[in-house]
Amino acid sequence: MRKKILTGITTTGTPHIGNYLGAIKPALKMAGPDTDSYFFLADYHALIKQSDPLQIKQSVKDVALSWLASGLDTNSSYFYRQSDIPEIQELTWILNCSAAKGLLNRSHAYKAMVADNIETNSDEDKAVTMGLFSYPVLMSADILMFNATHIPVGPDQAQHIEMARDIAGRFNHTYKNIFTLPEAMIQDEVSVPGLDGRKMSKSYNNIIPFLCDEKTLQKSVSKIITNSLEPGEPKDSSDCNLFKLYSCFASSEEINQLQAAYLDGIGWGDAKKKLFLKINNEIEPIRASYFELLEKPQLLNELFAEGASKVRPQAKELLSKVRDAVGIAQIV
Ligand code: TRP
Repeated sequence: MRKKILTGITTTGTPHIGNYLGAIKPALKMAGPDTDSYFFLADYHALIKQSDPLQIKQSVKDVALSWLASGLDTNSSYFYRQSDIPEIQELTWILNCSAAKGLLNRSHAYKAMVADNIETNSDEDKAVTMGLFSYPVLMSADILMFNATHIPVGPDQAQHIEMARDIAGRFNHTYKNIFTLPEAMIQDEVSVPGLDGRKMSKSYNNIIPFLCDEKTLQKSVSKIITNSLEPGEPKDSSDCNLFKLYSCFASSEEINQLQAAYLDGIGWGDAKKKLFLKINNEIEPIRASYFELLEKPQLLNELFAEGASKVRPQAKELLSKVRDAVGIAQIV
C-alpha cells in the first residue's frame, strides 16, 4: 500500500525557530516521490484555543507562509485548509456517533483542564467546551477522511492517533470496513531551548522568531541568557542553552569546534555571533522566500483554493461510502 503521510498544524500563533526545527523541517523531509503527503492548516482546531478572529486570520497566514517559505511544494504535496473541506465536518459528526464518551474522557488535554479546575476548587467543567472535549474526534476525521497511513506528530499527540484508530475500528466493526487504521510516527521531541534555557515556547515569552528580518534575528540571539564568565575563562558547553541551540543547526564537526572554543574561553559575544551566523545561514533562503510571498497576498488564497480542489474529490468519494454504509442514502 502506498504510504500516505498526513499532518495538521493548528493555526494558533506565529511559528518560531522551535516549531521550524521540531515540526516543519522533519515533516517536509518525509515528503518524497514514493509517498502522498497531506499537510493542512487545522483552523477549526484553532477555534478551541483562540477566540480572537483577527488572531485566527493572522495565524493562518503566518503558518501557511512558514511552510511554503520552508520549501513545501504544493505540486508534490497536498496543502489545504481544514475549513475548506466541509466533508471533514460531516465525517466528524458521523464519527462522533461511533466515538465512546468514555474514550474521550481519557484525553490528556481534557483531563489536564479538569484536574486544574479541581485543584483551584472550581467547577470541574469550568472553561471546558465541547470543542475541547471532542477535539480528538475532529482530528480523527482529518486523518480518516483520506485514509492516511502514517501520521508524523509530537509525543503529545500520540494518544489522539490511538483514539483515531479506536474510533475507526469501531466504525469498521459496526458498519463496514472503510477506514484504514493510521499509524503514529512519533517524532523525537527536538528539544529546542529558548532564550532563557527553558523549552522554546510562546507561553514562556522566550522565543527566537523565524519569519523576521536579519536585524531582528540578531537582536533576539543577543538576548540569550548566559552566565557571567568573562572572555578567556573556560566555559562548560554541557548545560548551555546557546550551545544547544547551535547544535540544532550545526554539523558534528562544527559542534566539536565550538566545544573546543568553549574550553578555550570564547567570549559570549563571539559565541552569539557564531550562533547567529549559523541560524541565519539556514534561514536566509527561507526569509527571502517569505518576503517574496508577502508581496503576493492573493497567492495564498489561490493555493488554498487549488489545494481544496485537489483533495475535495477524494473526501467526497470517501464520504459517500461512509454515508452509504450508515444508511444516509437515496431511498430505493
Ligand atoms: N492536534 C494537532 C496539534 O495540535 C494538529 C492536528 C489536527 C493534527 N489534526 C491533525 C495532527 C491530524 C495530525 C493529524 O498538533
